[in-house]
Amino acid sequence: MDERENLPLNPCVETQTTLEELVSLRLSRRGLIRSAIATAGLAGLGGMQALAAHGLPPFRFTEISRGVDHTHHVAAGHDAQLLIRWGDPLFSDAPAFDPHAQTAAAQRRQFGYNNDFIGYIPLVPEAGQDERGILCVNHEYTTSLLMLPDVGDEYPASITAAQGATERAAHGGSVFEVVRQGDQWQAVIDSPYNRRITADSTPMTLTGPAAGHERLRTGDDPEGRTVAGTMNNCAGGITPWGTYLMAEENVNGNFMGSLPEGHRETRNYERFGVPGGWYAWGQHVDRYDVGKEPNEPNRFGWIVEVDPHNPQAAPRKHTALGRFKHEGAESVVAPNGQVVVYMGDDQRFDYVYKFISKGRYDPAQPAANRELLTEGTLYVARFDADGTVSWLPLRHGYGPLTAANGFHSQADVMIEARSAADLLGATPMDRPEDVEPDPRSGSVWIMLTNNYRRTEAQVDAANPRAANNWGQIIQLVEPEGDFTALRSRWEFLVRCGDPKQPEVMASWNPATSDNGWFGSPDNCAVDPAGRLWVSTDGNSSTGAADGLWALSTEGTERGTGKAFFRCPVGAELCGPRFTPGGDTLFLAIQHPGDGDGATFDAPSTRWPDFEDGKPPRPSIVAIRRKGGGPIGI
Ligand code: FEO
Ligand code: CA
Ligand code: CA
Repeated sequence: MDERENLPLNPCVETQTTLEELVSLRLSRRGLIRSAIATAGLAGLGGMQALAAHGLPPFRFTEISRGVDHTHHVAAGHDAQLLIRWGDPLFSDAPAFDPHAQTAAAQRRQFGYNNDFIGYIPLVPEAGQDERGILCVNHEYTTSLLMLPDVGDEYPASITAAQGATERAAHGGSVFEVVRQGDQWQAVIDSPYNRRITADSTPMTLTGPAAGHERLRTGDDPEGRTVAGTMNNCAGGITPWGTYLMAEENVNGNFMGSLPEGHRETRNYERFGVPGGWYAWGQHVDRYDVGKEPNEPNRFGWIVEVDPHNPQAAPRKHTALGRFKHEGAESVVAPNGQVVVYMGDDQRFDYVYKFISKGRYDPAQPAANRELLTEGTLYVARFDADGTVSWLPLRHGYGPLTAANGFHSQADVMIEARSAADLLGATPMDRPEDVEPDPRSGSVWIMLTNNYRRTEAQVDAANPRAANNWGQIIQLVEPEGDFTALRSRWEFLVRCGDPKQPEVMASWNPATSDNGWFGSPDNCAVDPAGRLWVSTDGNSSTGAADGLWALSTEGTERGTGKAFFRCPVGAELCGPRFTPGGDTLFLAIQHPGDGDGATFDAPSTRWPDFEDGKPPRPSIVAIRRKGGGPIGI
């Protein structure tokens, strides 16, 4: 989801460095041969690829064409099977989907709205099955005007209590069993794994430094340790021990009202954009009105850990990973056993983080592994022009993180992680989205989606374009695969946008076709062969649909994009997730039919049902190669 316009700009580091100076700085490190390569227009070649070269198999598929229309398209030789749609039942007692008679009770038994992250937990197939697993899907937000048949003329103020409850039941996540027989996947209704997690109805506990803190206490929870639900779950992660992480992102938009004059949370909420006022649920439910329940927003903006094997287990919000607009949370076990979680804060001029656990992963100690995210250190990234990344600790008492600046404890540092990172001098980025570590190569892929607000005076080495409508992808390399390193190296993989328009200053491998470049990278996945795939949210600003691109990372192909899948009009693409064998790729089609003026009665497409009167439905598709085998070969 793109952030809305009513959010304040973050304080930014002022710099007078010109793009030419930045290029010069980068080139001096690369040397003359690299200079010749850069002149030829190639994207970020050289030492980094040598560090990470693994002889990846090439992308041989025939790419799809650029464009946009009412439906989806996938590269020839592959099929896209519709697996599950918003409103489809997860339980046999769920009512049939009726968009004109939606209720919260029905939605709590059905697949939720605006699917985003997809995780896959393999299970042992039973007799007659070829493959079996648990799918973990986030439901990020509700597009009320598309989802609900009558939101009133004064939306959002005209939303009813029942409509708001339905929306909140459509947030959260769906955990459900899926099985494959031959080429066909299907959801298993009533599987003992099936579960809906929602914004209202799923009690969850808080862990870590801020659990129980007075700033998290409310009328409903005077202990500050239990929250009813999670919302705005954007991307996420699957941990090495097989749990599901849900990232709470644009939670500020759900709150309305005004803080009492001089309230302690004033600085905190201004920095977080609370109250966003995008929804008016607070008219009916006090917790969404900061005038009535001023601490409630501090209970959102966390990483939530879910046990997908046990639908009765209360999810846990881990405050040690900081509170910000979490895009995702992909993790890796470092060589010494510590677990490292990479995270982006998706706002213009916000930051890239990594959390390093105090404890060490031990496959023989599954219960202990589930405590790994309760204690550790959160670091924020400073990207320097010499190609290094310094990781700065958000630790109470470190540098400016003291009472003099309003940080009285580690709880304060975690609750106001953004303000702490400001003081540490982290690099304000062009909207960090997915940050994906690849344990096989020691690389971490960072999606920076766009930032049209960056000015010429605000460009820096890692964010080198003003009015950046296209985004860039950074490769971060941890030295010798040590993900706990506090100094890393970085390099551009691509600078997105149309390479044929010099003023865009895009950077792609010249082998990239007119279909192969894109804008606004958002989510990504590394397939089992080690190859990178990137999905977009905002490519429509270039006049074409969002979709999925294969993106070469090594050798002479490095920086070459190839178009693989295209969304129906209005949709962004989320959650690319390969099964362990690499022969199924699950994709999340989010907000199909959206667009300027799009409504329940007049969507820009009625994908995927194409029935009059039926709204478009966010859905998961399963991509398979015809006849089976690895995707995209
Ligand atoms: Fe929810 Fe950052 O996209
Ligand atoms: Ca998005
Ligand atoms: Ca996203």
